[in-house]
Amino acid sequence: MEIQRLRTGVNKLDELLQGGIPRGFFVAITGEPGTGKTILCLHFTQQGLRDGDPVIYVTTEESRDSLVKQASQFGWDFNEALSKGDLIIIDALMRDSRDVWTLSRLTIDELIALVIKAKKEFGYTHARLIIDSMSAFWLDKPAMARKYAYQVKRTLSKWNLTTLVTSQYAITTSDAFGFGIEHVADGIIRFRRFIRGGRLRRFILIEKMRQTDHDLRMWEIEIVNGVGLKLLRPVELRREDVALPLNVTKKIIHAKESKEEEL
Ligand SMILES: Nc1ncnc2c1ncn2[C@@H]1O[C@H](COP(=O)(O)OP(=O)(O)O)[C@@H](O)[C@H]1O
Ligand SMILES: [Mg+2]
Repeated sequence: MEIQRLRTGVNKLDELLQGGIPRGFFVAITGEPGTGKTILCLHFTQQGLRDGDPVIYVTTEESRDSLVKQASQFGWDFNEALSKGDLIIIDALMRDSRDVWTLSRLTIDELIALVIKAKKEFGYTHARLIIDSMSAFWLDKPAMARKYAYQVKRTLSKWNLTTLVTSQYAITTSDAFGFGIEHVADGIIRFRRFIRGGRLRRFILIEKMRQTDHDLRMWEIEIVNGVGLKLLRPVELRREDVALPLNVTKKIIHAKESKEEEL
């Protein structure tokens, strides 16, 4: 059976994914702040609109206005899609009570209810869903990440959606914990950042994509005004380049174990 794939809108990335993300998947986009997660989500939105998919975009860390502005810097006019009703941005940051598309509280139950309401506006057609970020829903209780992610995936699975969810990694936790979404995701796209020669460099790696013979290399990326995300070249990094010192890793693993016991 042939798998239908949705283009992300980042050409090279789609190539590395055998054409894109399999329809119906729940994919985690993880990485430190400023690495390109939101910009990838904007690509996915723009490509969806182009390919005839309506899009629901839940934003918790930036306002609707800020997203629309960011998109316009890459040449995409989201205002048109918003006014035509092909794009619904649920602004969970501003929480203006006069706004229908906002959350009064940052809870998983409210999130799911409003996403379903938005999906009903589109009818039975397939739609793209972005939750940027999911971390906001478990800020004060990180141990709940896995449970919440599972709840969102399971409840929304019958609504004919392909979903991207972003989550943050704190620098210190990049190797040992911060897991949650990853355990329930059908795919994981991981952003990373390093400072080399006094300059910030960003990278992307497809860590997992079910049903896909995907590229296994880490690629250096660039964010380009007027264009968006560009994959430059695959890189070879030594473990010493990315790993934390052993004593730090041990501390993190210990912290993670006590968290799991609390659960
Ligand atoms: N118009 C632009 N031209 C070039 N780089 C940009 C532009 N807009 C944003 N960026 C870069 O993108 C970064 C933000 O990426 P973003 O996807 O929002 O990160 P996050 O992973 O936190 O979601 C900024 O820190 C900046 O380096
Ligand atoms: Mg972001």
